Amino acid sequence: MNDKNKYALITGATSGFGYEFAKLFAADSYNLILVARSNEGLEGVARELTSQYSIDVKTIAQDLFSPNAAEEVYRTVSSWNVTVDVLVNDAGQGEYGKFLDYDLDRDIDLIQLNITAVVGLTKYFGKDMAARNSGKILQVASLLSKYPTPLMAVYAGTKAFVLSFSEALINELKDTNVTVTVLMPGAADTDFFHKAGAEGTVIYRETELSDPTDVAKDGYEALRSGESKVVSGAKNKVQAAMSNMMPDSALAATMRKQMAPSEKEEGRSEITHPASRTERERIQESIGKADGDLEKHEDHAHD
Ligand SMILES: NC(=O)c1ccc[n+]([C@@H]2O[C@H](COP(=O)([O-])OP(=O)(O)OC[C@H]3O[C@@H](n4cnc5c(N)ncnc54)[C@H](OP(=O)(O)O)[C@@H]3O)[C@@H](O)[C@H]2O)c1
Repeated sequence: MNDKNKYALITGATSGFGYEFAKLFAADSYNLILVARSNEGLEGVARELTSQYSIDVKTIAQDLFSPNAAEEVYRTVSSWNVTVDVLVNDAGQGEYGKFLDYDLDRDIDLIQLNITAVVGLTKYFGKDMAARNSGKILQVASLLSKYPTPLMAVYAGTKAFVLSFSEALINELKDTNVTVTVLMPGAADTDFFHKAGAEGTVIYRETELSDPTDVAKDGYEALRSGESKVVSGAKNKVQAAMSNMMPDSALAATMRKQMAPSEKEEGRSEITHPASRTERERIQESIGKADGDLEKHEDHAHD
């Protein structure tokens, strides 16, 4: 298949799976539209890929926490007059902690990013694909789509939504040439746990994490062949199968143990996936700068 003139739009393309998806599409000569919040991160990925492949890479710095984000992204893409052949809804975040112990604003943001933006982008670009009777959509869900997860209750709920929504859409589109593929990764070595404040958990510190390169490859291959669903990794396939046989209360109890704080002194603390590590360093740097700005501001206030 010649993908020379095709465009893939990938959200969350600066780190983790999204970055790996961008590399896979670029290697197959897809042009890219990369979406994330950090302009610096986007420009870095765009530079890296255009130096290796003769493709067009466009970037959209957009915060998908904002309610009209999907429409904004669609408007920008429409103004460029390019056709999106593949949509990858990858960007997503979680929050660690007891549901009643942190602010509602954070839940609303997660629902906005993990659900509203996914529904919006799927609606806008899906309609165009249906009109052309051609296109592919990849929805990044999670193994947690099947597991109610204490201490990450809202996150797992949003991923259950992504799975259910996508399964229904697959059925609605079954007689067309528009395909929807759901990727269900297990815990992986990305910045996800750090963004969620879950880097002290048993699952992050003590268990084997998937390599984002392998996860993205599984999703990419499933998307290319038009499969409807893929669970990435042998261990995760077993866990997904078990989830169909166990009551929800037992699934929640299993996840509670995984999400408990790790008491091991030795354990994983750092990301090894390079792009995700860069993402973490960029975030730490900007937090440092913001703290510095705040200190300067406070110093002024005392002048
Ligand atoms: N890692 C895991 O263990 C795991 C397992 C199962 C499923 N997943 C899912 O996989 C997807 C990718 O996660 P990852 O592990 O690759 O995480 P990651 O390394 O943290 O990457 C997240 C990407 O999303 C972007 N993003 C985050 N918040 C955003 C916002 N408000 N607006 C726009 N872009 C935003 C980030 O860039 P900016 O920060 O610059 O915006 C980054 O490019 C998510 O949907 C996640 O839920 C992850």
